[in-house]
Amino acid sequence: MKKTLLTTKILLERAKKRNRAIVAFNVNNMELIQAITRACDEMKCDVILQVSNSAKKYATEVYLRKLVEAARESVGIDIALHLDHGADFEQCKAAIDAGFTSVMIDGSHLPFDQNIAVTKKVVDYAKKHGVSVEGELGQIAGIEDEKKNEDSQYTDPSTVKEFVEKTGVDALAVSIGTAHGAFKYKSAPAFRFDILERIQKEIPNTPLVLHGASSVTPADVATINKFGGKIENAKGVSEDILAKAIPLGVRKINVDSDLRLAMTASIRKTFATNPSEFDPRAYLGQARLDVMEVVKTKLKAFSV
Ligand code: G3H
Ligand code: 13P
Ligand code: ZN
Repeated sequence: MKKTLLTTKILLERAKKRNRAIVAFNVNNMELIQAITRACDEMKCDVILQVSNSAKKYATEVYLRKLVEAARESVGIDIALHLDHGADFEQCKAAIDAGFTSVMIDGSHLPFDQNIAVTKKVVDYAKKHGVSVEGELGQIAGIEDEKKNEDSQYTDPSTVKEFVEKTGVDALAVSIGTAHGAFKYKSAPAFRFDILERIQKEIPNTPLVLHGASSVTPADVATINKFGGKIENAKGVSEDILAKAIPLGVRKINVDSDLRLAMTASIRKTFATNPSEFDPRAYLGQARLDVMEVVKTKLKAFSV
């Protein structure tokens, strides 16, 4: 029997019952999908695989969806397929029509009323198809779909209840000081757990989402630089700090950059230490194993 993909709503409810969070990993290719789902299978953790617009541009939606379906056939854990940072109703509708079980509508750059209107439109359509919806309030700094947002704009806790009630979203992404990409902070990160606490008080039943949650593991950056790379001033958030957000209602934690760094570090190392290697299965196979270790670190910190 063909195994089905689940909605994020179900996976987030499961995570809440266990007082833990579910990690949502961005995927672009087969090796990442295999590494993530094999590691999750070994650790018996459900997972959200998410696809950005630039991932679709690179691999095409159908390849990524079929690869995720293949992964689901190959492992025993449950998987949700989620559209990351859907820009408008049409993109969300296309993902829902194609078989995604969850979409994010990112109206965070819009005026409040317009964000509500587009999010509600997506929720109405998604509900008819049994698909979950994540909305966003406040703006997260960093690189997002090739655009740079210099400053973060913290989520205003006084707005979240109205947003959730008027839209009916299943989860809400909030901005409390994390940032997208591998260069998150020029100086020390400024987390506003006080804001998160106030948000949770306003909407205790809504699962919260943290974007920009890569730790930018110094060891991976060092490996990249040791073997010919040049990544300067990269900075992320430690898993210990992020884990503190879980008791405050965070149930979905988004990780992308750490997988890119791990994969790049691994491939650079293979090329530098074994210059005669030219079989992609050798260097991509090793990279897949190395990405699995990063995935396991995240699962231990947030999910298990
Ligand atoms: O939101 C940002 C994610 O890391 C996606 O990045 O647009 O380069 O795939 P991407
Ligand atoms: P990172 O760049 O910190 O991995 O964040 C990914 C993300 O939030 C995807 O939506
Ligand atoms: Zn994001």
